[in-house]
Amino acid sequence: MNTAPLRAHYPWMSSDDVIYLNAASTGPHPERAVEKGREWLELRAQPQKITIPHMVNAAQHAREHFAAMIGAESTEIALMPNTTYGLNVAARGLPLRPGTILTFDGEFPSCVYPFMALGSRGVGLERVPFGEDGLPDENEMITRITRGDVVAVVVSWVQYASGFVVDLARIGEACRAAGAFFIVDGIQGCGVREINVRELGVDVFASGAQKWMLSPWGTGFVYVRHELHDVLQAPDVGWACMTASADYAHLTDYKYEFWPDARRFEVVTLAYHDFGVANESLAAMREAGGPAALGAHIEALADRLVEWAQSRSDVKLWTPADRARRAGVIAITPDDMPGALGRLKRAGVVCVPREGAIRLAPHGYNTMEEIERTIAALDS
Ligand SMILES: Cc1ncc(COP(=O)(O)O)c(C=O)c1O
Repeated sequence: MNTAPLRAHYPWMSSDDVIYLNAASTGPHPERAVEKGREWLELRAQPQKITIPHMVNAAQHAREHFAAMIGAESTEIALMPNTTYGLNVAARGLPLRPGTILTFDGEFPSCVYPFMALGSRGVGLERVPFGEDGLPDENEMITRITRGDVVAVVVSWVQYASGFVVDLARIGEACRAAGAFFIVDGIQGCGVREINVRELGVDVFASGAQKWMLSPWGTGFVYVRHELHDVLQAPDVGWACMTASADYAHLTDYKYEFWPDARRFEVVTLAYHDFGVANESLAAMREAGGPAALGAHIEALADRLVEWAQSRSDVKLWTPADRARRAGVIAITPDDMPGALGRLKRAGVVCVPREGAIRLAPHGYNTMEEIERTIAALDS
């Protein structure tokens, strides 16, 4: 029996000799999103067939989908081409006084470079070293936050290589107590894990949609909580930030008035057709039960991988075994890495090596039978 909640959207997965365990790199599009893409491309080829409401509605639906995934209002969502652009909105737009920004060592570079770039403003980025287990050291992070010079903290919700899930509630609380901004890169968890950014006190949350949200490259969003809309200065200013962009007939009135909501951070013409495709992927995910149901399915698959890794003395499990501290990324290091990678490849398993480990990233379309075949390949 096939109980994978998204499997029906991927007919090729049942006929091709491929086991796709690489959502942490690129999420495949469900079939209905591919269809929607064809529709949009045909319309785009003859733009006279596309109305402005059609474009504007595609963008608004995307904002609503993203907002629902993270417990936000759609007025707190600005559409972005990826994660990093959203993090740049935070890095360059927040009123940071001179001081220190903290992140974890081993973060994906999107949490590092935009903040390293602030050195000339007297804001330095400091990386909290790994703990002895090679995972983010949250205790050390909390100690440093309370030191007094910290103006912001930026972390990934789920670490891209180890799959470690950061305790956002704990770090958020420490940030609030210290008066520091709390910025989160959500891409490795968003869509397949429940979150309420408002309850967690997150100030800015950025995520591309090209991985776990199964959407086109060039789609994503940034959440900026309402209270910060006037505080955070839009770092890039374009015609689309302004209320006047709603009236194509009078653009040269140059009325300098920002949108009152997060659209003020959307600078340029959007990739409407890509967000139209994203809406189809996001609708499929929502109909399959959303982050709660997809997360539960992924957890069951991950449980099996974890259990297998723990049963092998020649395999190191980098990802925490504790369910609360892992999501869809399971990182394992067999003693014989090249041999294991070769066996996986011959078995049709699509996965990647990252930072000395093999990263397995199952999603709502994968079945337990595929996980057993993956394990059999590793065992062979
Ligand atoms: C944690 C994390 N942040 C960001 C990215 C990608 O950034 P962007 O969406 O800006 O290309 C990745 C991709 O691997 C990632 O794992």
